[in-house]
Amino acid sequence: MKIQIVNDYQQLSEVAANLVAGQVILNNNPVLGLATGSTPEGMYHRLVQMCRNGVLDFSNTTTFNLDEYLGLSPDHPQSYHFYMYRHFFHLVNVPPQNIHLPPGLDSDPSQACRLYDRKISEAGGINLQILGIGVNGHIGFNEPHNYLKTGTHLVELEEETVEANSRFFDSPEEVPRRAITMGMRGIMQAEKIVLLASGENKARAMKEATCGKISTRVPASFLQLHRNAIFIVDREAAALL
Ligand code: F6R
Repeated sequence: MKIQIVNDYQQLSEVAANLVAGQVILNNNPVLGLATGSTPEGMYHRLVQMCRNGVLDFSNTTTFNLDEYLGLSPDHPQSYHFYMYRHFFHLVNVPPQNIHLPPGLDSDPSQACRLYDRKISEAGGINLQILGIGVNGHIGFNEPHNYLKTGTHLVELEEETVEANSRFFDSPEEVPRRAITMGMRGIMQAEKIVLLASGENKARAMKEATCGKISTRVPASFLQLHRNAIFIVDREAAALL
């Protein structure tokens, strides 16, 4: 695991976009694992610019998103589907059939989880996984617990996560309590992992994830075991390192 400390959010976004761009340029059929949330917005913005300038071509790229709220339709403004199309997919040339997100509305979510993992395998696995980190150390929606799950699965969100995400909703009551997330196996099997952390509210999670014991109470701490994981951290998030 490597940690790169950058000055601010601008630099973090630039470094992250460059890492994704490198993957897309070098690989004939890149498979990207993608995250939502505030942190990668700047990265997506830069990738869109590169695509528009003709520097990047996503026509051979396949994507798998980490997670989605359960119960939100793709056109719900707070769904992760909506976020991804608004910030990225509507603005670049990833072929629609290559875009995958866990379904928020499926009559059989457990079956949908199994199918999602199968599709990742059939695509040959993820070459580059982008991650954010929750204030409680979650990655995807793998929440702190006394055990972690391997495959894509349904999850009850922790109160801390619901509270952190309520900033996107009109009221905390509207934040869905359940989600579908890729599991720890899906994340850890990615060839390369890039975790992004920005802002002082991530400092404690960053410290626990990188300097603490590997623990299911801090899911991001498992990234210490990954051969090719890099944490891009701005100064505020790195304050306790
Ligand atoms: C989102 C995801 C989450 C976020 C995390 C940080 O797809 O998987 O784990 O990365 O909650 O969110 P932000 O970036 O909004 O602080």
